[in-house]
Amino acid sequence: MNLTLKIWRQKGPNDKGQMVDYNVTEISEHMSFLEMMDVLNEQLINTGEEPVAFDHDCREGICGMCSMYINGEAHGPDRGVTTCQLHMRMFKDGDTITIEPFRATAFPVLKDLVVDRTSFERIQQAGGFISVNTSGNTQDGNAIPIPKRDADDAMDAATCIGCGACVATCKNSSAMLFVGAKVSQYALLPQGRVEATERVQNMVAQMDLEGFGNCTNTGACEIECPKGISLENIARMNSEFMKASLKG
Ligand code: SF4
Ligand code: FES
Repeated sequence: MNLTLKIWRQKGPNDKGQMVDYNVTEISEHMSFLEMMDVLNEQLINTGEEPVAFDHDCREGICGMCSMYINGEAHGPDRGVTTCQLHMRMFKDGDTITIEPFRATAFPVLKDLVVDRTSFERIQQAGGFISVNTSGNTQDGNAIPIPKRDADDAMDAATCIGCGACVATCKNSSAMLFVGAKVSQYALLPQGRVEATERVQNMVAQMDLEGFGNCTNTGACEIECPKGISLENIARMNSEFMKASLKG
């Protein structure tokens, strides 16, 4: 199929940026979206133009790097997939596709479609861990009984890949689905209870410091999240935060 691409080009963080039109031809419906972008970049390199900068790593839906806003949706029109897992069969011959970076104050654009998501790293560093004794006397995780429902919910929360689609989708640029998932994955397990109070307080404080907006329960984040992270995680984070505040 032949396509027209309208792509955000921005030379650097301080450049104003603009949409630029490109044409790509003979795109197979079996290609992934990133493979289609590779075809465009090969074409640009062959004609001496600057290729489009975009983030990617695993190309398997695991790393969360491939942040693109495609036709007004984070990770494009398919559900439950990242941009690298989006296939060109979702588009038709002759389509015009608009491609922009994830936009949020806390995710400044570095170049073209690449945004700086280190704000997520700093939130993780504020509390997204547990401290355990690794001297050799560590109790085997399997020796601690955990209700099946809690184990399943913790596992579901842990599938968040930190892609940032929830932030890019939210009209408030809220990171509460991401932080809710990171708080929940520990809050549900006995190993995570030890530092639960400081964790939720520190992660929420860092989230606010980074400039993410507040949650107004619109629910768009849950719909666009490629890993199906549930809004229940935001409710759990709020309850954890309330419990921590009462303790403090
Ligand atoms: S909650 Fe979903 S959309 Fe948000 S960072 Fe995690 S995987 Fe991405
Ligand atoms: S490149 Fe890793 S999730 Fe898309």
